Amino acid sequence: MKSPPFSLKGDFLKNNQRVPSGTPKSNNRRIKSLICEERGNDTFHFPQRNHGAQKAANGLFATLLRMVIMKKIAVFISGGGSNLQSIIDAVESGYLNIQISVVLSNDEEAFGLTRAGNHGIPALAVKHGDFESREKYETRLIEILDGYGVDLVVLAGFMRVLTPLFVNHFHHRIINIHPSILPSFPGTHSQKQALDYGVRFSGCTTHFVDEGTDTGPIIIQTVVPVLPGDTEESLGSRILKEEHRIFPESLKLWSEGRILIEGRKVVILPDES
Ligand code: GRF
Repeated sequence: MKSPPFSLKGDFLKNNQRVPSGTPKSNNRRIKSLICEERGNDTFHFPQRNHGAQKAANGLFATLLRMVIMKKIAVFISGGGSNLQSIIDAVESGYLNIQISVVLSNDEEAFGLTRAGNHGIPALAVKHGDFESREKYETRLIEILDGYGVDLVVLAGFMRVLTPLFVNHFHHRIINIHPSILPSFPGTHSQKQALDYGVRFSGCTTHFVDEGTDTGPIIIQTVVPVLPGDTEESLGSRILKEEHRIFPESLKLWSEGRILIEGRKVVILPDES
């Protein structure tokens, strides 16, 4: 079991993870194998046992490589974590050469925490409601991320707006995914906004995070058609498929040092490998 590289108060163990409805039985077994460990205000989720792919990835060589070369990312989530899963899969398949050091959620029920635990990734719930102010909450997040030596923060469905305190600490080191072609339909319910507006096409955008809401320099965008009879859900799932493709692709560009930010524009450097 990995220990967090920083100290937290008041250790105790409990096994209180709720199984989301509709979760297949095989997954339930995995969820039961998680240990939930509450330390102070935070809840860690660690797997009790390794699975085959994880064992392979945990070889001595892979561990040393991760420690020495690989860039470290933290993934922030608030819900199901399908984008997180696409990143985990890209790492495990060897497409992405980075280390997911920690997964953080503001909601301890987020299924993405279980996904992380299933893959041996430290997963931590830090509930914003436990803090007096946004600044105190973000100070805590920064303390944790700095403890892990994180190079990049990846917002994968994290439903909190970050203040300048956090954004400036990780200047040009936060990437978000948004389910629309920005700058159209920023904020929440982007799919509904697109349907209400009557656009023929929508899509998704990866971008660096600045002090605005969904306004930072754009990395990749991709387009999907809006079809007759589309609902928020059907359009959302068509967009989500594309998110699962462009998010790992964007992180790959970043990890290979192929992204230059010039003002509000991103320049993608050619692949020289
Ligand atoms: C995605 O549509 C993402 O673009 C938005 O929130 C959703 C998260 O989905 N910000 P998931 O939790 O990754 O499944």
